[in-house]
Amino acid sequence: MTTPSSLPIVRSVADLRGRVAAWRRAGRSIGLVPTMGALHAGHLALVAASTGANDRTVATIFVNPKQFGAGEDLGRYPRREAADVAALAGHHADLVFAPAVAEMYPDGHRTTVTVAELTEGLEGGHRPDHFAGVTTVVTKLLLQALADRAYFGEKDYQQLMVIRRMARDLDIPTDILGIATVREADGLALSSRNEYLTPTERAAAPALQQALRQAARAIAGGTPVGEATAAGTAAVLAAGFQSVDYFACCTAHDLRPLDRLDPNDGPARLLAAARLGTTRLIDNVAVP
Ligand code: PAF
Repeated sequence: MTTPSSLPIVRSVADLRGRVAAWRRAGRSIGLVPTMGALHAGHLALVAASTGANDRTVATIFVNPKQFGAGEDLGRYPRREAADVAALAGHHADLVFAPAVAEMYPDGHRTTVTVAELTEGLEGGHRPDHFAGVTTVVTKLLLQALADRAYFGEKDYQQLMVIRRMARDLDIPTDILGIATVREADGLALSSRNEYLTPTERAAAPALQQALRQAARAIAGGTPVGEATAAGTAAVLAAGFQSVDYFACCTAHDLRPLDRLDPNDGPARLLAAARLGTTRLIDNVAVP
């Protein structure tokens, strides 16, 4: 069994490539779990999915400055590498890639990867440079690790759709797999940012998921989409959230806004983002 002390941590792309190449020569399949650290049970579910389907699992820990906008929480984003490595060892990861910013973005780095349309609404509408930062770093991680499969949480549903599209458009030969959101007993989606919440905010936080579920049930039952999303927004504000960035019903596969359910559009997804104190929470549910 891998123990904390024996789980290797590599800091350079060259080291990562060397280890992955050796596994490839030995015929091993490889899974990749990109993270920004501050691991919780949601991340560990990605690791479990990877170890269940691949011979070797690489987890990455990199707080990517390019996906944080000015005034966002880059400075206070939780960093606790030793605890993360211990958790990864306990969940049978085989390698941790934890590069410094200068390794990922050396002087002279000038390339940005962007995905059109899918990134314009929802999160993209409120965090203008966020997805360019995500797609740039994830492209690099996918090309650095050359894994067979890479695992992302459905909690960041738009991110998952964007990365899947990007990998397809760029012919990156890694399967992009989405793993169901892991939730607290009261329904709050696990997020590294939940630790910013005060006890009062933490008590109010599950209202976001409850409002999404209620709206999804209402839409499935025939309530007009606009009415259900307006009621969802009102419920979130009534629970103590300061503002709602969006509460929207979209096609599940390409996130086109829907104002009514139509079987020709395929499955629908409800997505929301709202501010509670200094914390911005996002969540989403399928429309049954
Ligand atoms: O979801 C995250 O934690 C990050 O956006 C990711 C995919 C690791 C890229 O930095």
